[in-house]
Amino acid sequence: MAEGLPPLELQATEYWRTLWHVKSASLGKNPRRVKAAFIWPFAIVLTFILGAFAATAYFVEVRVRDRDLAERVVAVAKLVDQKLGKDTNLMQAVLRTMMDNRAIETAFASLDRDALIREAGPLFETLRADHRITHLYFNSPDLINVLRLHSPSEFGDLINRATMTKARDQETAVHGLELGPLGTLTLRLVTPWRASNGILGYLEIGEEIEYLVEEIRDSLSVDLFVLVDKRFLLPEQWHHGLALFNRQGSWDRFGSHVTVAQTAGQVPSALNDSVLANLRAGRTEVFEDGNRVLHLAMLPLDDAGGRRIGDLVVMRDITVLQKTFLSSVTAVTLLSLLAGAGVLGLFYFALDRVERDYQRQHDLEHQLLRLSTEHQRILQIEKLSALGTMVGEIAHQLNNPLVGVVNLAQLAAREADDPARTRELLTEIHRAGEDCHAFIQSMLRFSKVSCFESMPTPMAEVIEETVLLFRQTESRHCPVETQLPEQPVVLTVDPILIRHALFNLLLNAAQASVDEGAIVIALERAASPDSGAPGWVLSVTDHGKGIDPNVMGKIFLPFFTTRSDGTGLGLPVVQHVALLHGGTVTATNQSGGGTKFAIWLPEENKSGQLEHAA
Ligand SMILES: Nc1ncnc2c1ncn2[C@@H]1O[C@H](COP(=O)(O)OP(=O)(O)O)[C@@H](O)[C@H]1O
Ligand SMILES: [Mg+2]
Repeated sequence: MAEGLPPLELQATEYWRTLWHVKSASLGKNPRRVKAAFIWPFAIVLTFILGAFAATAYFVEVRVRDRDLAERVVAVAKLVDQKLGKDTNLMQAVLRTMMDNRAIETAFASLDRDALIREAGPLFETLRADHRITHLYFNSPDLINVLRLHSPSEFGDLINRATMTKARDQETAVHGLELGPLGTLTLRLVTPWRASNGILGYLEIGEEIEYLVEEIRDSLSVDLFVLVDKRFLLPEQWHHGLALFNRQGSWDRFGSHVTVAQTAGQVPSALNDSVLANLRAGRTEVFEDGNRVLHLAMLPLDDAGGRRIGDLVVMRDITVLQKTFLSSVTAVTLLSLLAGAGVLGLFYFALDRVERDYQRQHDLEHQLLRLSTEHQRILQIEKLSALGTMVGEIAHQLNNPLVGVVNLAQLAAREADDPARTRELLTEIHRAGEDCHAFIQSMLRFSKVSCFESMPTPMAEVIEETVLLFRQTESRHCPVETQLPEQPVVLTVDPILIRHALFNLLLNAAQASVDEGAIVIALERAASPDSGAPGWVLSVTDHGKGIDPNVMGKIFLPFFTTRSDGTGLGLPVVQHVALLHGGTVTATNQSGGGTKFAIWLPEENKSGQLEHAA
């Protein structure tokens, strides 16, 4: 009905309001970017862990490297001590052998240089050839040289080196390193030769120790540089030594020191004065020299007089170590990166799924919101529409008899002289009034359905009473059959309402009937067609004309009727009663003609809730 709908403008306003509502709701609840929220912190943490790993690996490598060099430096010091000790012992044995030799003693006592050369010469030659002994002196008690077996032409000079003066002062054998004027380092042993009538003189034996650095390099795999302080040398003499011993080096290579022995062919170009200063301060140094990585430390070099005459630079080639370390760290870092990327990828896909689920849920919520808004709108429109229909129908139903009453009353006034005609007209006015009264009564009955009072009710009794009432009021006297279960069925229902609904169904069945076929009332157990809950079905089946499928959807609407004298309120009442009991009502056309109306009622009646809802 057009007049039942709200005005068109109002409908449009409602529609736009709904749309706006849905849109603003969706804008306010955008799904969070789950991936972005997790992936970035994860990537940062991963990078941090890798960084920490690399730093730790570096510090571990530095420690390992430093400890290795420190151990080698200690080993160098020990080895030097051991070798010097061993050589000293040998030299001591040699000197003792000489002092035990009567012929040598006699020659020394008589300062007979030729006899000394003759007696001691062969032994010295053997020592020089087999044991690296390079010097052998015979000195008088006042430290004047009597004979140099290694250089017999030089003699008569004063020998006042630290070893010699110490041996004289302490009257005991003294040994130690001495720096020669040519820059040679010599291990010297001086021992006083005591005779029966006092000190005969002093024997001094020595060896140049350049060979030592080679031996140490061979056993400890380190290169050594022996640096001597320039203050203890003269440049001309050092240069003389350079040529004499076929050494390498340059006087100006370092500021304060000069090399006197070295195992490596070349001093690394990066080894300069500032590096030496650092090493002298006890630190270690790492630098690259060409394609080598070198690690350096330093040991002090003291002479027999206790002076620090120079330094022993210990240099280790750590190229291979460094390369191995670098390649392992790179491999581990790459592997970790790969694993991290894998985990990150998995994480990404997992989060992607979460995000999609989240989005889907969000969309569903969105749709639900829209649907419920739409639903409310439709309900509102339907309510207004139903109200319009109702008012129109009531007006229509009351208007016809009232028009009759007005017309008949006018006619009666005009024909007041004819009492018989007036009575006839008054009878018709009375009937029209009765019609209005009957319509108002059925309206009141419809509204009374809301009053609901349920109690345990034997269903057989309710059906029997209704059939009885129906037989008294229905003029056509249709036969009615009842099919009830053997056991009495007691349901918690409102007996008056059930009777009312059943009566309406019987009345409709009778009005639809076209032959003498019986109307069948049945009560049987059945589950709810909607929820499957246990309950009972009270049905009325007729053999009538059936319901046109076109109107099947409208028969429960108030005021819908296909009969000229119908009110269209019978089935709405039936539906209302079923709903009040928490049940449902359905209509189906039977295959052999006729219709079956079925009211399903639940076993457990929870309709108290519906009383107020209704
Ligand atoms: N048993 C039936 N067989 C066929 N049609 C029926 C039956 N019961 C109801 N109807 C149809 O449903 C309409 C509505 O019925 P109802 O609400 O009782 O109103 P009324 O009986 O006043 O028409 C009827 O006009 C009729 O067309
Ligand atoms: Mg009816």
